[in-house]
Amino acid sequence: MTEIEAGAGGEDRGGRWFVLVFGGAVVLALIAAVLLRPGPGPAPAEIAGDGLLVEGHRLYQQRCISCHGPRGKGDGPIAASLEGVSPGDLSDDQWKHGDRPEQVIDVIARGVPGTSMSPWKGEFSDDQIRAVAAYTYYLAGRPVPEALRGPNDDALFRVENEDESQ
Ligand code: HEC
Repeated sequence: MTEIEAGAGGEDRGGRWFVLVFGGAVVLALIAAVLLRPGPGPAPAEIAGDGLLVEGHRLYQQRCISCHGPRGKGDGPIAASLEGVSPGDLSDDQWKHGDRPEQVIDVIARGVPGTSMSPWKGEFSDDQIRAVAAYTYYLAGRPVPEALRGPNDDALFRVENEDESQ
């Protein structure tokens, strides 16, 4: 009698172990699926040591990739359905709105009126705008201008400052 009870208890424990192990595997698989899904992932190894570019990469993945695409080629998931001007190619060296740091900052901060490129100033801090501007240089394979490494200065944000004084 006691032996049977012990046996039944053993089976019960076995069942619980099964639930624990199997359930654990399911939970791990779900965590892996969330971590590995496309979208904001870790920064590319070559910029991992550069805090400014890592931050720029993070913001770009969240807010810019939908139009500009993962490498800045203008092939993000919603790019084809945008009305009017296409996002262009940030990864070439023909930047329509200029390639000086204050020009890039200006485009990001104020957007391009009449296109889907919206102003990010209200959404991003100056530091964040600097970081994502630096990241666009990285996408184009250009060195990041020293001015973007901070501290924020008025010359860099001159157009915005003109706005504020109005
Ligand atoms: C809804 C789509 C959309 C999103 C999101 C978007 N952009 Fe744009 N962006 C555009 C379009 C369209 C243009 C082209 C404007 C033009 O040709 O005048 C553009 C132009 C630019 C340019 C100027 C390129 C040049 O050739 O001079 C920069 C830099 C830029 N975007 C950076 C960003 C950054 C950084 C973000 C994220 C913070 C972002 N964009 C988010 C649509 C978008």
